[in-house]
Amino acid sequence: MVGACIRQKKRKVCVFLQKERLVFLGRKKGCDTARQERFWKREDICDMRKKWWHDLVGYQIYPKSFQDSNEDGIGDIPGIIRRLDYLQELGINMLWVCPVYRSPMMDHGYDISDYTQVDPMFGTNRDLEELIRKAKERGITVIMDLVINHTSSEHPWFLEACRDPEGKYGQYYIIRKGKEGQPPNNWRSLFGGSAWEPIGESGYFYLHLFTKGQPDLNWDNEALRRELYQMINGWLEMGIGGFRIDAIAHIKKDLSGGNVPADGPDGLGNGMRFFRNMEGIEAYLQELKENTFQRYDCFTLAEVDDIPDSRLDAYIGEDGYYCTVFDFCHCHHNLRDGEWEGRGEEMLLDIRDRVFARQKAMCGRGFFCNYQENHDMTRIPDRFLKKEDQNFYSMSMLPVLYFYLAGIPMVYQGQEIGMTGFDRNSMEEYADPATFGIYRDYLMQGMTEEAALHKINASIREHSRTPMQWSGEKYAGFSQSEPWFACNPGYPSCNVERQQADENSLLCFFKKVIALRRNSDYQETWIYGSFTALEEDSAQLWSFERSLAGQRLQIFVNLTGREALTKSEVHGTVLLDNYGELAEADGRLALKAWQAVVVKAGEQQE
Ligand code: GLC
Ligand code: CA
Repeated sequence: MVGACIRQKKRKVCVFLQKERLVFLGRKKGCDTARQERFWKREDICDMRKKWWHDLVGYQIYPKSFQDSNEDGIGDIPGIIRRLDYLQELGINMLWVCPVYRSPMMDHGYDISDYTQVDPMFGTNRDLEELIRKAKERGITVIMDLVINHTSSEHPWFLEACRDPEGKYGQYYIIRKGKEGQPPNNWRSLFGGSAWEPIGESGYFYLHLFTKGQPDLNWDNEALRRELYQMINGWLEMGIGGFRIDAIAHIKKDLSGGNVPADGPDGLGNGMRFFRNMEGIEAYLQELKENTFQRYDCFTLAEVDDIPDSRLDAYIGEDGYYCTVFDFCHCHHNLRDGEWEGRGEEMLLDIRDRVFARQKAMCGRGFFCNYQENHDMTRIPDRFLKKEDQNFYSMSMLPVLYFYLAGIPMVYQGQEIGMTGFDRNSMEEYADPATFGIYRDYLMQGMTEEAALHKINASIREHSRTPMQWSGEKYAGFSQSEPWFACNPGYPSCNVERQQADENSLLCFFKKVIALRRNSDYQETWIYGSFTALEEDSAQLWSFERSLAGQRLQIFVNLTGREALTKSEVHGTVLLDNYGELAEADGRLALKAWQAVVVKAGEQQE
């Protein structure tokens, strides 16, 4: 139990942190709950009931590319089991496994044809049970991907819907009659081309926001929703810790508006405002939660872009729809592509300001899931750093930027060894239908093939899907056979085995980052402490403080390749440092290029 006294309006109140919840002992008689809540919010402590999932530190696995066990060149569940010791040693305690359900693999598993079965490519349901059990033995909770905005076009429901678009299963999808052979509207799919596909010669079209192999489900249909809840509960019964919930912001669509303004010569346009976070979605999210997740007290992590600050309570507050959501505020920044091209320092400062603003809005109300990489984005060193700047110091400062923010940190496979993308010489070397859809759109907009390939190389999500680099052996120790997707040719120098043997490697530093995040002396502060931005006007630093019950932990990261001085004096104990040596000048920190430190500030005088 940690006890602490906090001054407030000349009155001393005591706050005790107990195992189950934070208890407020200074409650003023007759104070109503709403006022009491406001009172809490002003403190440097979060008034949150403790939940079992608050201390999670996650690791995302893209199963096709993690570890092959039967030498068919494709990663699988037994392969993940083989690497559990590695994951335990890394220090994480939650695994998010991307979809392993039966699938034609049009979107590499995000197109599910049977929600109840593991695809033979990945193993069996028994393998999955074994993974969950063995992970649990190591203190690791497994969460699965939940893809319920759409199914595969080979799902039996959809096959039946195509046979009889007006029948029961026709109502499970978004199917409309076309107008004179044309689709019902001109929405562009998120993966390029029209979002509508004709159903044979029937005159009907179905909606697919993603590939045409992923027809969108009709959430307005209660019978469908009930079937989904039943399926979800089946998995929770089996003992999984929860779900990462895919594309859930899109389950409600407004088709009443007709065409949107065209944004290309093909007459198609972006219909996002009619199919993301639509009014009325809340009722479905609430119903989903009440009928499934809440009953099992499971962990839920939702993929929801663009939640305004004012809606955070509804989504991730104590009674929110989810435990946590990914925040997307840094996802559209890429040094190699788009508006930030070549403006590295400015870009990192812009990200800092956005992340800090979101932290201020979120802290004390709920939890974001903080991350830098996933299977839908190019690798972080490529997005945040110029090639010539990529070195141990710059790469090791990256995790320090986000690991100690308020929220739940997540690592993506290979991030811990600094995997990067690599340019391809031709489109044939790519494997994702989304890549080809986007490429076709580039050509349609008038780009040359060369320019389109250049843009694809700079920005496409597939860069993060190359096989995990375990060793310098052929195929990077991922498989004995040729992998389904080519390894990064840089694997002989960047791989796990090599970094395990070198105590100055990124991997060893990453372990320290995770260990500090989970160190019981500081964990309460990382999880429940307040967030304060420091030196916000600095043109070089990313610095902030987390504090709880008198403990003040400060993060200072130099975002540049030049020395940076803090403005104010810093006193305390260094808990983490990517140089191993910290210079000071008159009490101020003199940070070397890309230096990142965590300091426990000296005891404050009362
Ligand atoms: C999510 C997934 C992505 C997938 C899409 C459609 O954004 O992360 O990989 O392609 O949904 O399911
Ligand atoms: Ca395999």
